[in-house]
Amino acid sequence: MMIRSMAYLGLESPAAAQWRTFGTAILGLQLLDDAADGAQRFRMDEADCRLWVHPGGRNDIAYIGWTVAGEPEAIALGELIIAAGRELHRATRDEAAARKVAGFCWFIDPAGFRHELAWGQYVTPNGFVPGRAMSGFRTGDQGMGHIVLAVPDLGVSDRFYREVLGFNISDRIIDGPRELLFYHCNGRHHSLAIASPVPGKMGAHHLMLEVNALDDVGVAIDLCAQHDVPVSKSIGCHSNDRMVSTYLFSPSVLRIEYGFGGVAIHDLWEPKTYSTTSIWGHKELRPDLPPAMIIER
Ligand SMILES: [Fe+2]
Repeated sequence: MMIRSMAYLGLESPAAAQWRTFGTAILGLQLLDDAADGAQRFRMDEADCRLWVHPGGRNDIAYIGWTVAGEPEAIALGELIIAAGRELHRATRDEAAARKVAGFCWFIDPAGFRHELAWGQYVTPNGFVPGRAMSGFRTGDQGMGHIVLAVPDLGVSDRFYREVLGFNISDRIIDGPRELLFYHCNGRHHSLAIASPVPGKMGAHHLMLEVNALDDVGVAIDLCAQHDVPVSKSIGCHSNDRMVSTYLFSPSVLRIEYGFGGVAIHDLWEPKTYSTTSIWGHKELRPDLPPAMIIER
C-alpha cells in the first residue's frame, strides 16, 4: 500500500466566502490567509493546510490529496496508474508550494475525480489554533478524515481504487438497492468510500472530520442552531466504523460528517457486510435539501 493517508482536500464553490464562518465558528478549523486565487484555507492540526475552498462557478471536488512516503513511491504508483490507461502529471515547484507539500503527481480517475499523490507535507509544530473552543482533531497517521464519493459506475471505481491505487476493502453496506464500499489505507476504518446512487452521475456526499471529544460534536450541533446552519442528519452511530457523528450542511452542499470515536482497523481485519448504515440515529432531518453535492461538468 503506497498511499498512507488522506492529506488534504480542495473544493470549488460559489459559496467559498461563507466557509469563513462555517469553517471556524462551527467546525473549529483555523482560517489561514487566502490563497493567490482567493481560496479560503484551513488548518486542523500541525499540517500547514488541509482544506482549500476555491471560489468558482459550481460546487465541485477540485482535488483529493493523498500522502505517499516520497517521490519514488509516487513514481512507482504512477507507473501502475499509467498502465491502467490514465495520464499522470507532475506538479511544478510552484504548484507543490501552493499545496504546502514538497511535490506531487496528479491524475484523473475513471469516475472523473482528480487525485494528487503528495509527499513532504509542510508542518508547523504546535501551530494549530482552533477557530472555536474545542479539543482538536484526530489526524496523525490516520490522515485528514474520510471522503465519500458518488461514482458513475461502482464496479469500475472499485477495481481502480483497489487494484491500481491499492486501497484495501474495509466493509460494505448493502441496503436494498443501495451499495456502499469502504476502503482503508491506514488505521482509520475508511479514508475513502464510494456509492453509485445515480448511475452515470458523479458527486460527493460528505467529508468526515473526527474530533477528540464527543462534547465537540454536541457543541457543533448547538452552534449550527445559533448560526442557522442546517444539521442534515441527527446524531447517530455508524454500524461499520462505530463513529458517533452528525452531518452538517456546508455552504457547498457537501455534508461534513463531524464525528467522534471511530474504531481502528488492525492487521487481522475481516471485511464484513452490513444491511444498514447506522445502529441508531442518523435520521434525515432536512429532506428538503439536495441529498448530495451533484457534480455537473
Ligand atoms: Fe462517513
